[in-house]
Amino acid sequence: MPKTYDQFAPQYDAVMRPLERWFLTRLRTQTFNLLPRNARVLELGAGTGRNFVFYPAETNGVASEPSREMLKIAKDRKRPAAVTLVQSQAEELPFKSAVFDAAFATLVFCSVSSPAKTFAELRRVVRSGGTIVLLEHVRPGGLLGPIFDLINLATVPLFEDHFNRRTAADARAAGLKVVGVEKRLLGAINLIACRV
Ligand SMILES: C[S@@+](CC[C@H](N)C(=O)[O-])C[C@H]1O[C@@H](n2cnc3c(N)ncnc32)[C@H](O)[C@@H]1O
Repeated sequence: MPKTYDQFAPQYDAVMRPLERWFLTRLRTQTFNLLPRNARVLELGAGTGRNFVFYPAETNGVASEPSREMLKIAKDRKRPAAVTLVQSQAEELPFKSAVFDAAFATLVFCSVSSPAKTFAELRRVVRSGGTIVLLEHVRPGGLLGPIFDLINLATVPLFEDHFNRRTAADARAAGLKVVGVEKRLLGAINLIACRV
């Protein structure tokens, strides 16, 4: 289990607040616009439940999160009645195959220990033809790329946060069809839409 987020949980919402105002709330809205309605949905790494307010009221599915302390906060946030909270890691999901129509994650692939294992699990639990949407910070192209490689040397040991992940390429390598990549903040934030 990621100890970092157990320790960070009490401060998480306050730290995110300025980012929400700057760009995140807008991008969370866009993330949900890419998800199908009336679908059974899985959220990975739901954290303190900051996305719950964006769930359409009729949503049913699971919000999963490995950190007990993040989950404690998420539990008290309002969410649709048919969305259950489950403690689990993205690399080893406790669900049967093809039980979801769609899955999504926001700011999670920087933290998973293995993007390849996580994508393999997503391909297993989301039905063929289903949708996967990811809002992630990634390694940008151009001159910023090597700078992010340097930052990564510090963020991994300090926060278990991989600053130079190539998440769209990892999705393709895992066999997903990447149908759209919208780049924001000089390419450091990607909104990635995939089909299984
Ligand atoms: C930056 S927070 C994002 C939380 C939330 N998705 C949001 O947008 O506010 C990263 C989240 O990923 C979770 N996480 C870390 N490792 C994970 C893993 N292996 N599988 C699933 N989630 C993980 C952390 O516990 C944390 O809640």
